[in-house]
Amino acid sequence: MNEALTKIHYAKPSITDLEVHYAADAAAHGWGEQCYAYIARFETAFAEFTGAAHAIATSSATGALHMGMAALGIGPGDEVILADTNWIASVAPIVHLGATPVFVDILSDSWCLDPQQVERAITPKTKAILAVHLYGNLCDMDRLERLAHKHELLLIEDAAEALGSRWQGHHTGTLGRFGAFSFHGTKTITTGEGGMFVTNDDALYENVLTLSNHGRARGEKRQFWASKVGFKYKMSNIEAAIGCAQLERVDELLARRREIFLAYKERLADIPDLAMNPEPPGTVNGFWMPTVVFPPRMGDMRRRLLDAFRQRRIDGRVFFHPLSGLDMFPSRPENHNSWDIPSRAVNLPCYHDLNMADIDRVATVVREQCRAASGS
Ligand SMILES: Cc1ncc(COP(=O)(O)O)c(C=O)c1O
Repeated sequence: MNEALTKIHYAKPSITDLEVHYAADAAAHGWGEQCYAYIARFETAFAEFTGAAHAIATSSATGALHMGMAALGIGPGDEVILADTNWIASVAPIVHLGATPVFVDILSDSWCLDPQQVERAITPKTKAILAVHLYGNLCDMDRLERLAHKHELLLIEDAAEALGSRWQGHHTGTLGRFGAFSFHGTKTITTGEGGMFVTNDDALYENVLTLSNHGRARGEKRQFWASKVGFKYKMSNIEAAIGCAQLERVDELLARRREIFLAYKERLADIPDLAMNPEPPGTVNGFWMPTVVFPPRMGDMRRRLLDAFRQRRIDGRVFFHPLSGLDMFPSRPENHNSWDIPSRAVNLPCYHDLNMADIDRVATVVREQCRAASGS
């Protein structure tokens, strides 16, 4: 390992004086009458940014998914279809609610749900489709919406990784019954840990608002009176203060992600058959995580590249393992793309302060390893 090189992390937040100032203000003054002030401000600003009618700040995207699915009545006996390629957080709420996840394959270009496979997997027990916009890439929302409509299914969006991604002008998270976003420290905007539930459905909003407050309905006059058993997935006022600052900078943060993605793309453009995150016509990709998928002839590029990165003090990140390859779920190797792509894919470092010299350093290693794998 070359200790002289500075380390390139795969993700890192961008925190300026603005975030520090708002957080300090919340810590100093955000109590008593002001204890929800930054939370309300963050929710309003986030709803405005995404175009959602309603937003509820949460402690995580997982919590937002859990409450939304609970409010929609997903439970024992129900099946929920989602892509086999996913982070465990997308499936955990389905399991916690006693429903059955049904894993289907991804498309080879978007790495998101294959609508044809979704249709094949629909049974009388299917209650919902969970569309996860992986790495900022977009699910085919038109086809999924048509399927949901035809089979009377709920369409839910996990937009945890897709801030800034748009489908036909609509922000992700606003196209289904509800959407969930994550503000974990690796995400485009962060609150440390945190998330957001968004919906255009007034009744669902009221229901989740009540659930999110331990089952205490808005307007309830009796103190400590719960009308149902709810959840405690709230965001704190201090976290929301950081979120407000990040959201004020969202255009700058998204523009930088795009710049970084395009810089990688340019530097890797002449590697034959290398795939990266797509941005089909009619969509905007938030480019949360630039990803390279190498052609099968190059072999196990994940191992090769991550080893080389380690030698040069660069953090790489593995493409998600298929969920059906984990011990707690039935194995589904017939989901060919989900099982095949991970060994030849890697997420590249991406964060606001990554500079062009860092990008050159990463791209040089990728190019070297491609040449070595191709025997030239
Ligand atoms: C696709 C996806 N869904 C859900 C989550 C969960 O987000 P959180 O960590 O905020 O619960 C993540 C987090 O990384 C994610 O990538």
